[in-house]
Amino acid sequence: MLLAVACGPSTPSGGKSSGNEKLVVGFAQIGQESGWRDAETASIQFYAGQNLDTIDLKFADAQQKQENQIKAIKSFIEMGVDVIGVAPVVETGWDAVFTEAKDAGIPIVLVDRMASVDESLYATFIGSDFIEEGKNAAIEMSALLGGTGKIVQLEGTVGASAANDRKKGFEDEIAANHPGIEIIASQTGDFTRAKGKEVMESFLKTYGSDIKGIYGHNDDMALGAIEAIKEAGLKPGSDIVVVSVDGVKGIFEAMAAGEANVTVECNPLLGPQFFDVCQTLKDGGTVEKWIKSDEGIFRADTAAADLPNRKY
Ligand code: AHR
Repeated sequence: MLLAVACGPSTPSGGKSSGNEKLVVGFAQIGQESGWRDAETASIQFYAGQNLDTIDLKFADAQQKQENQIKAIKSFIEMGVDVIGVAPVVETGWDAVFTEAKDAGIPIVLVDRMASVDESLYATFIGSDFIEEGKNAAIEMSALLGGTGKIVQLEGTVGASAANDRKKGFEDEIAANHPGIEIIASQTGDFTRAKGKEVMESFLKTYGSDIKGIYGHNDDMALGAIEAIKEAGLKPGSDIVVVSVDGVKGIFEAMAAGEANVTVECNPLLGPQFFDVCQTLKDGGTVEKWIKSDEGIFRADTAAADLPNRKY
């Protein structure tokens, strides 16, 4: 676990947040599993770096492990930070450590992923509607296939809200409104390109050209799947349509090259919003319980034109 990217001299010793001159924020990041995650980290670190006179960021990279995130949160509590931000790698298992933060008077801000805890244990959730993203992906998939075809699903990290909800949103929409679309296989690729490729290779071995579409819970896994499809001698984007979530530059390049079809955007550039919320909380203000991100849907036909405007 990497701690303290931007530790300044203002760390208090008393474990109370109110005495800090600067806004002292601890952020427990998940890791570096995807281009999206890197963009989120960069957004947070860049904003803090631009505001060193007012912000003291303590950053921990948990390398995909919940136990590391919990350790980081405990150390932030010890340090007496003003606010703790966390992108929970999985949804469950946070009650005890969030209660510790609450008892120490330090608000928890959930960033990008939800935790299933009582609402009283966090101040706000800043992030996307993952169910809506899954639903939109299903509508796009069905439209691309004319309402009929066998498809496979590459799921994100087991137990992550982004995986649980993108799966639910997608599968509920298919079941309710697209009877001709059949999900023949679904497996985790852990949100990484390497695992996305590996899982797609095994799907292709089992189902071959019966597969008409792939839904990836993120673009990185879809990019891995595209490699696997090409190596199997098939054409991604036409033999097998590709729909995924995030909106990273790599998928726009793939769409512009005709190798992917649709990405449902999920905004990782949360740094400015996050610190704004932290400052409000430090000042004793109130914030909405869910600060929802705006997101679009991007398709292959405009990808080349969209690409220069993408920021991550
Ligand atoms: O929680 C957001 C998800 O986490 C992104 O879609 C994915 O790329 C990342 O790993």
